[in-house]
Amino acid sequence: MTTAIYPGSFDPVTRGHLDIIERASRVADRLIVSVLINSAKNPLFTVEERVQLLREETAYLPNVTVDSFDGLLVEHARKHGAHLIVRGLRAVTDFEYELQMSQTNRKIAPEVDTIFFTTSLEYAYLSSSTVKEVAGFGGDISAFVTPQVEKAVFAKIAAGRNKMR
Ligand code: PNS
Repeated sequence: MTTAIYPGSFDPVTRGHLDIIERASRVADRLIVSVLINSAKNPLFTVEERVQLLREETAYLPNVTVDSFDGLLVEHARKHGAHLIVRGLRAVTDFEYELQMSQTNRKIAPEVDTIFFTTSLEYAYLSSSTVKEVAGFGGDISAFVTPQVEKAVFAKIAAGRNKMR
């Protein structure tokens, strides 16, 4: 049985992420989408909220589960008996960082390989940061995220503004 891990920040999950999840779920027997618990960043959504959104969006895929992790990704992979890490490559600008990460991970855990999915062309420009920036200025993000995520993003931004008043 092939178990793969798709790690990331997913703040929030975009249509680009969902495209990778669906395609990777056809390659692996079991796909675990893992949200990094990263206190260094200043996220819009809590880890629990991101996990919940991902669970809702992937509920139609029976071999996909969602969890969160702290610490080294390869240790998380080992814990699940996963020998594959899934990452998306949007453009050549992603490549250096992704190559460095995959080689570091293989040095620490030689049994864990990374497979890359090239992002579908319609999502090649897309990132969670762009979604947050456009939404922050009240722009239309419906092409970037699902309706549920769109609702959650605008609710979060509104809640943040109310708190600052
Ligand atoms: O969505 P992101 O923020 O590009 O995902 C980055 C992620 C979570 C894959 C990466 O930061 C990660 O694996 N962090 C865990 C710490 C780790 O294992 N570091 C060693 C690899 S360089």
